[in-house]
Amino acid sequence: MLVATSKSAQTPLGLVELSSRPVGPKDVRVRVRAIGVNPVDWKMREGGPLRIAHRVVGPSGPLVVGVDFSGEVIEAGTSADLGAGTRVVGGTDFSRNQLGSYADEVVVNADQCAVLPDAISFDDAACLPVAGVTAWRALTEIGGIDRKPQARVLVLGASGGVGLMGIQLARSLGAGAVGVCSSRNTALVERFGAIAVDYTKGDALEAARVHGPFELVLHAVGTDLYPLGTCRSLLTPTGKVALAVVRAGDYLAIGFLPSVATVLRRPTRKTLDPLVLALSRDELTCLIEKKFPLAQAEYAHALSRKGKVVGKLLLVP
Ligand SMILES: NC(=O)c1ccc[n+]([C@@H]2O[C@H](COP(=O)([O-])OP(=O)(O)OC[C@H]3O[C@@H](n4cnc5c(N)ncnc54)[C@H](OP(=O)(O)O)[C@@H]3O)[C@@H](O)[C@H]2O)c1
Repeated sequence: MLVATSKSAQTPLGLVELSSRPVGPKDVRVRVRAIGVNPVDWKMREGGPLRIAHRVVGPSGPLVVGVDFSGEVIEAGTSADLGAGTRVVGGTDFSRNQLGSYADEVVVNADQCAVLPDAISFDDAACLPVAGVTAWRALTEIGGIDRKPQARVLVLGASGGVGLMGIQLARSLGAGAVGVCSSRNTALVERFGAIAVDYTKGDALEAARVHGPFELVLHAVGTDLYPLGTCRSLLTPTGKVALAVVRAGDYLAIGFLPSVATVLRRPTRKTLDPLVLALSRDELTCLIEKKFPLAQAEYAHALSRKGKVVGKLLLVP
């Protein structure tokens, strides 16, 4: 199998041939057709808690990053519930000792894959796993927005991968959405169904306040830029701040304040199914900023690191 890997964060990702991994009884081997790029992919290369966790629970050998993939099953384990030829979308899981998705094939447990209807393209599907599951979990499990149809949701980082999913899924659940973005993205954020607040024009949280109070603040930027105290002051009495980006100073609040939670969830069939359904019902549109051959993964990481990607970047093996 062909994977993109590098010896360190400083060494560019390059293509390397590895021997294929065996398929366990509940596993499937998926021929990868498209890979979604997420900031976690390059963050993992740079060290820190993610890299340490990967060293402890992840596979040995070269670091192959990447979570999101779509493709078709080419081999199924004896008790896997997906057969060869099934079109799927899924996410790799380093804690199950798996290699990442920057590869031409992945071997994962079948329960990490959702079935894709023919009408959904591999490219759209590959946008879903990390960004979509993060937004969906924030909205439903943390914010309970699926049970509060008139709720208002504030999305910080509205034009990124997580943010655009968050706005659309909030709307599909019947909530009103307000999205914080820069001037170049206000028209886009409005087109995707939210009231846009332009952070280049002054204090974005104060500008958002007039549209609140919010049942959920989906925080996909960082509390250095949008402080937790101010975010909490925008909430209803039952509201929550869901942190996609957790900084060292946030752990105390996550541990002790019931209104603050972190969104950390691996994609699984259960968490991907609602997203596939939303896509097939046209409640979700995937915006792909650029698509690169896997051999250009390093360039995609350089773009993602700048923090200005609108929607998603894809890699194609
Ligand atoms: N905990 C988890 O499980 C989890 C899961 C997914 C993501 N994350 C984290 O969440 C963050 C967002 O992920 P992502 O995939 O959405 O990233 P992304 O797609 O790279 O986000 C880029 C977007 O951020 C926007 N942005 C940058 N600065 C901003 C600011 N000050 N205010 C508002 N928007 C701003 C940019 O829009 P403008 O050009 O308009 O500024 C750009 O469109 C990343 O740090 C990622 O690692 C965590």
